[in-house]
Amino acid sequence: MSSEPTTIRWEQDDTGVVTLVLDDPRQSANTMNAAFGASLKAVADRLEAERETVRGVIVTSAKKTFFAGGDLRDLSSVGPDQARQVFESGLAVKRDLRRIETLGKPVVAALGGTALGGGLEIALACHRRIALDNPKARFGFPEVTLGLLPGGGGVVRSVRLLGITDALLKVLLEGKQYNPGRALEAGIVDEVADTEEEMLARARAFIDATAQSRQPWDTEGYRIPGGTPASPKFAANLPAFPANLRKQTGGAPYPAPRNILAAAVEGAQVDFETAQVIEARYFTELVTGQTAKNMIQAFFFDLQAVNSGANRPAGVEPRRVRKVAVLGAGMMGAGIAYSCARAGIEVVLKDVSQEAAERGKAYSAKLLEKAVARGRTTEAKRAELLARITPAADPAAVAGCDAVIEAVFEDTALKHKVFQEIQHIVEPDALLCSNTSTLPITLLAEGVERSRDFIGLHFFSPVDKMPLVEIIKGGQSGDEALARAFDLVRQINKTPIVVNDSRGFFTSRVIGRFINEGVAMVAEGVEPASVEQAAGQAGYPAKVLSLMDELTLTLPRRIREESRRAVEEAGGTWQPHPADEVIDRMVDEFGRPGRSGGAGFYDYEDGRRAGLWPGLREHFTKPDAEIPLADMKERMLFVEAIDTVRCLEEGVLTSVADANIGSILGIGFPGWTGGVLQYINGYDGGLPGFVARARQLRAAYGERFEPPALLLEKARKGEIFTDGPRD
Ligand code: NAI
Repeated sequence: MSSEPTTIRWEQDDTGVVTLVLDDPRQSANTMNAAFGASLKAVADRLEAERETVRGVIVTSAKKTFFAGGDLRDLSSVGPDQARQVFESGLAVKRDLRRIETLGKPVVAALGGTALGGGLEIALACHRRIALDNPKARFGFPEVTLGLLPGGGGVVRSVRLLGITDALLKVLLEGKQYNPGRALEAGIVDEVADTEEEMLARARAFIDATAQSRQPWDTEGYRIPGGTPASPKFAANLPAFPANLRKQTGGAPYPAPRNILAAAVEGAQVDFETAQVIEARYFTELVTGQTAKNMIQAFFFDLQAVNSGANRPAGVEPRRVRKVAVLGAGMMGAGIAYSCARAGIEVVLKDVSQEAAERGKAYSAKLLEKAVARGRTTEAKRAELLARITPAADPAAVAGCDAVIEAVFEDTALKHKVFQEIQHIVEPDALLCSNTSTLPITLLAEGVERSRDFIGLHFFSPVDKMPLVEIIKGGQSGDEALARAFDLVRQINKTPIVVNDSRGFFTSRVIGRFINEGVAMVAEGVEPASVEQAAGQAGYPAKVLSLMDELTLTLPRRIREESRRAVEEAGGTWQPHPADEVIDRMVDEFGRPGRSGGAGFYDYEDGRRAGLWPGLREHFTKPDAEIPLADMKERMLFVEAIDTVRCLEEGVLTSVADANIGSILGIGFPGWTGGVLQYINGYDGGLPGFVARARQLRAAYGERFEPPALLLEKARKGEIFTDGPRD
């Protein structure tokens, strides 16, 4: 006998309608755990035993969400040795859902809240899905974003419901999450009801009108919509899928999309039961592998830790910003103004002239126009949002602001000046933030009277799309300022990481290592196209030389000069980097400073990239320069990982979750790794394996691959990079 509690309540009325209420008594959400598996089996047994007295079944939930899906804590801890167990228990759940689906009685899902992953799989096993028009509810299969696939029949049923192409594109490959209206359009729910009563009434009406129920795929003569791989029309399109997949993943090691495609295509050519076994096999392979563990760690646990304020000083009352002054209406200021206004905050967007400020506001108008045209927002919301942004040139306009975000040119004296201009006009306790990307916060704070209230708030470009904000604590920043900065970032729905002041903070410093490594390979004579390809295959969303062009080649030069001065002033010896010479020649000899200057590693036509500059091969490429592809990929990943460990050692970073999330969301470290420190944890052979490989790279390519002391110590003690359990 199982000692697990019952997670599915059986309620039967006198008309023979059974309501199965998903309600795990031990958790705030229902998940696909062992107790659920046992309860599902018990319910399937009872439905079969009492078949004669059951007229129909409604599946609903007592929780806010219908069903939350797999238990990620369980899923992220299964090892390859548990493959058989995972496979068997997955098949058992599938079998029991199938028994309910083929009972011959109408089964309706009444979806009052979110049904993602396993939740949608339960719903798809029902004959009808009626969703409540709940604006918070989401429907879809986000498994792919965690390196998994829906392994409870989700691939098999979505393919049979929507056809292979639609199932792949609409629900399986991108992990899209739909609100009730869009879920109806996508064909994954059948009806949307305005109220809970109406939803249940409609569920009953379906049962009343349907004596017997069968899924379309269990009826005679059923064909998969759009055809199967066996049909000539479909077969002709089939080769396009792997090609698109390569485009989506850039050839990077993401096993989930590949397995999803295989499970869908192979499963479409066989009967339902065989398809379920195929799906279970591909699921098991993913769940027992390293990539899913990495992705669950980053996109679930670390993200949750970061967003829930593990780094926010406790004891400071949460506060909401009402009105923000954004100083500087250039590229960053305009984007910051938009993001604040979108979150309902009043914005004063200030620049040197009214025209410049208006131009900054026009950026929001343009984004909103596009959003209206695409049906993403309404005309009324557009007008409301725009009305919140007041462009201004007069410093007096910032009166009443309880927060300031400065985004003027990158110049210490100018930044000091603009804060002096407004510090007595804004609210006397206004939070003071700078969006500097390189200047020390401690230095900038010297320009304001209330330096305790001063802090760095580093946004990324384009601000409306980039989810990360790096909060930089200066030497003088108070806990109150940190907590308020944290709350502001959450208020505008972005993800905050917290770092201590240091040259380049965390993100700019570490991305610099990546770029320098790519350029170093050009210096060694490697074909530039191969360098770009290696970055793509390692999983970087932006290729290394194209990224260098975006940031401009003059920026690392300036930073290098400042760093050199600082090192020499401190009595140290400056170590030149192999990338330096290429960057200097690109700027000085060839006049190619990057995209904004019209030419860089790439040629540009009308501002658009038009291929790598052929001169690169002529001036830098050596025919005998051969670096194995594996080395090229790992050099980029390793320099970033190693320098991140140094950031931890130096106290620039104080948490592992910040490093992982900051690296993926801020600087494009490949998502399959689970972030820059999880990459080390998950490396073949763990930390000792990583150390051994770093030493090989060091011997071949230079001192910068030397493993830092903290890494060596953890490897020796058998530890990994983790924040450990938090209270
Ligand atoms: P930008 O050159 O596009 O805009 C700067 C704006 O500041 C201009 O509109 C200018 O008229 C205005 N300005 C100059 N003096 C002013 C004054 N006295 N009062 C009010 N406004 C004044 O520069 P961008 O790219 O927006 O950068 C702004 C800041 O953000 C810099 O500190 C930069 O380092 C930082 N940053 C830039 C990122 C990027 O990707 N461009 C990323 C993160 C931070």
